Amino acid sequence: MPFIELKPGTLLSPTAVVMLSCASFEDKPNIITLAWVGTVNSDPPMVSVSIRPERHSYRIVKESGEFVVNLVSRELMKATDFCGVKSGKEMDKFEACKLNAIAVPGMKYAPAIKQSPAYLACVVRQEIDLGSHTMFLGEIVNVGVQKSLMDDKGKVDFERADLVAYCHGEYMGLKKPEGFFGFSVARPEVLKRRLKKN
Ligand SMILES: Cc1cc2nc3c(=O)[nH]c(=O)nc-3n(C[C@H](O)[C@H](O)[C@H](O)COP(=O)(O)O)c2cc1C
Repeated sequence: MPFIELKPGTLLSPTAVVMLSCASFEDKPNIITLAWVGTVNSDPPMVSVSIRPERHSYRIVKESGEFVVNLVSRELMKATDFCGVKSGKEMDKFEACKLNAIAVPGMKYAPAIKQSPAYLACVVRQEIDLGSHTMFLGEIVNVGVQKSLMDDKGKVDFERADLVAYCHGEYMGLKKPEGFFGFSVARPEVLKRRLKKN
């Protein structure tokens, strides 16, 4: 047996780490860092975000019924950690991190973070209490990507985005693409063309 058994836990790795921005009628814009997030449906496009009820952002998302998921680059990593250890109950995290809140089409309250590589603006469709966290299922109603990250074919260049993932307590930088969807069965000329950057 090559495995050692550990206590059942949230070892799934890597996960995304994102900055969720939110606001409501009575609450000014706030940012909460989340790692318990995921894509859960393609059509309509949906994500899940799990938030503990004691977080300041929990009530804001619940009351406003919307949130914006902002992707995290290496450049935003320190701010991401900060927004994950400090609460909006005590401070304005946009101000503290020198980030800018910008309005997003389709959102009544929740802003996007201007410095993020990309954002996914979501409307809450369902809420499920799971125990420690409440999972909000959000339909993605608007997506924005920094112009500088679009390649000449109109695709997002994720290598340029320099995104960061999360592995059980640590932030990990992503390096170059090592493959692509279907590369295991791709013809040699396709492989050569698609992986030529490596
Ligand atoms: C890397 C990282 C991931 C986190 N993931 C989550 C999460 O998925 N759900 C959650 O409720 N809190 C998570 N937190 C904790 C919150 O971000 C943290 O408690 C934050 O201060 C709450 O901010 P708020 O009170 O302004 O909402 C995470 C923190 C870090 C640093």
